[in-house]
Amino acid sequence: MSEAHARFSTLEDGRPVRVDVDGVPVCLVRTGDDVRAIHDTCSHQQWSLADGGTVWGDGVECSLHGSTFDLDDGRPSSLPAMQPVPTFEVTIDGDDVTVDTSAALNGAPFPDH
Ligand code: FES
Repeated sequence: MSEAHARFSTLEDGRPVRVDVDGVPVCLVRTGDDVRAIHDTCSHQQWSLADGGTVWGDGVECSLHGSTFDLDDGRPSSLPAMQPVPTFEVTIDGDDVTVDTSAALNGAPFPDH
């Protein structure tokens, strides 16, 4: 049984939060009753997506240069980023939110750093 990485009740709707999952920085985004997880490192210049990131529908916009990444497939919908960011499986059990970073759901490569 893996340890929960966040409490659902502490996640604000539409506000990205950075959590560390076994050494992997993850940006968690709650939208309604759903929580999705995307690697926290922008594929453009390694900025934190949770740090000032804005949620638009099913995407999170990087606060540094404005690329928006789809929370499901990790793809940027706007320049300057061109590469997808890994997305991860999330399990919600009551108030426990658990993220599996053992593999990217979308097959995107993990950032080097
Ligand atoms: S660092 Fe994210 S768009 Fe440039």
